[in-house]
Amino acid sequence: MILSMPLSKKLLALTISMFLIVLGSASLVVADTAQPDFSNENCLSCHAEVGPFITTSVHSDFTCLACHPNIGSEHLQDYRADYEKPAETLISPQHIPETCGACHAEELDSYMESVHGRGLLLGSIETANCIDCHGSHNVLERSDPQATYSATRLPDTCAKCHGGEAQENFIKGTEHKSLAAGTGIAEHNTLKFFVWLTILTVVGLIVHMEVELFHLFKRSGRKKN
Ligand code: HEC
Ligand code: HEC
Ligand code: HEC
Ligand code: HEC
Ligand code: HEC
Repeated sequence: MILSMPLSKKLLALTISMFLIVLGSASLVVADTAQPDFSNENCLSCHAEVGPFITTSVHSDFTCLACHPNIGSEHLQDYRADYEKPAETLISPQHIPETCGACHAEELDSYMESVHGRGLLLGSIETANCIDCHGSHNVLERSDPQATYSATRLPDTCAKCHGGEAQENFIKGTEHKSLAAGTGIAEHNTLKFFVWLTILTVVGLIVHMEVELFHLFKRSGRKKN
């Protein structure tokens, strides 16, 4: 069609289409530089299931990004039906302690000293991390009877993994006990005592073996002569 037009009309058509292309790409640029919306409202527009919990949680004043700092603008743009979760994120079991510990340094330290923290260090993801005892979006104050770590619910929380009936005595210990802390000084010294005892025993054993080997070689050397 354009080919059959007279030259002046061809030029006019070309100019108009150039103009439209420039206009079109300009509006694309504007859309691209619009600030990504990281508000909780925007997150909740897709993740509505989180809403009911986060409003009653002790963390309700925080933005979602406080615990999900790895969620970037691509997450908002790249939403596709075939979105694939990254294999490992800050909310994978092995990373949850550092994610929560960013604000709860003391509890992180005492957790890492506990059986569960040591289990996690050894690579166990079946062991308990922060959210197994506290929940993730629904963390409540301890005095709230609904809290998973309240005095009333704690036995059931432990029993999830420690089988059978919730045992009264099992939960009597303090969960976050720092062995270096004031009240834990006796335990701290006991721990140190046994650590040094082990080191000295092993060193003693090795020295003993070396000495014996030395004598053995000396004796066999003498026999040959
Ligand atoms: C346009 C919809 C949409 C918006 C807006 C959105 N998400 Fe998502 N998000 C998804 C989809 C889809 C998935 C993958 C499916 C799933 O796990 O639910 C996902 C997965 C996630 C995950 C789990 C996987 C991962 O990468 O860790 C987190 C955490 C998450 N979103 C947090 C957020 C936060 C925080 C915001 C707000 C800054 C947000 N999302 C905004 C659609 C959205
Ligand atoms: C106090 C920290 C914290 C805050 C605040 C928080 N989250 Fe999470 N979120 C977590 C943890 C921990 C997990 C992992 C839960 C699990 O593995 O069961 C998680 C998991 C998720 C998932 C993935 C669920 C799945 O099944 O994979 C989405 C989606 C999500 N959060 C969205 C949000 C949104 C939206 C907000 C804000 C309204 C928010 N989170 C605020 C800690 C938090
Ligand atoms: C951005 C900082 C931040 C992050 C990340 C965070 N918290 Fe908190 N958390 C707080 C603050 C601040 C309070 C105190 C709120 C209050 O007293 O009202 C709190 C309170 C709590 C309490 C209740 C303590 C009490 O005295 O009642 C628990 C339990 C808790 N957080 C566990 C977690 C867990 C588990 C995670 C990870 C899923 C986490 N927190 C992540 C800042 C954070
Ligand atoms: C998510 C599962 C889970 C929860 C919840 C849990 N534990 Fe454990 N716990 C484990 C695993 C797994 C081990 C084995 C050592 C390891 O891998 O860390 C363990 C080990 C222990 C041990 C060392 C002795 C033993 O049986 O191996 C004690 C004591 C313990 N847990 C107490 C508790 C208490 C108290 C609670 C509740 C406040 C609790 N656990 C909640 C998974 C859990
Ligand atoms: C095995 C269960 C268990 C695990 C795992 C656990 N906690 Fe706790 N947490 C408790 C219990 C029980 C309490 C109540 C006080 C106590 O016994 O020390 C508590 C108390 C707290 C408190 C409130 C302290 C206060 O002064 O009232 C915070 C904050 C907290 N934990 C954060 C964390 C964080 C962060 C992690 C992970 C690094 C974590 N917890 C792992 C069971 C657990």
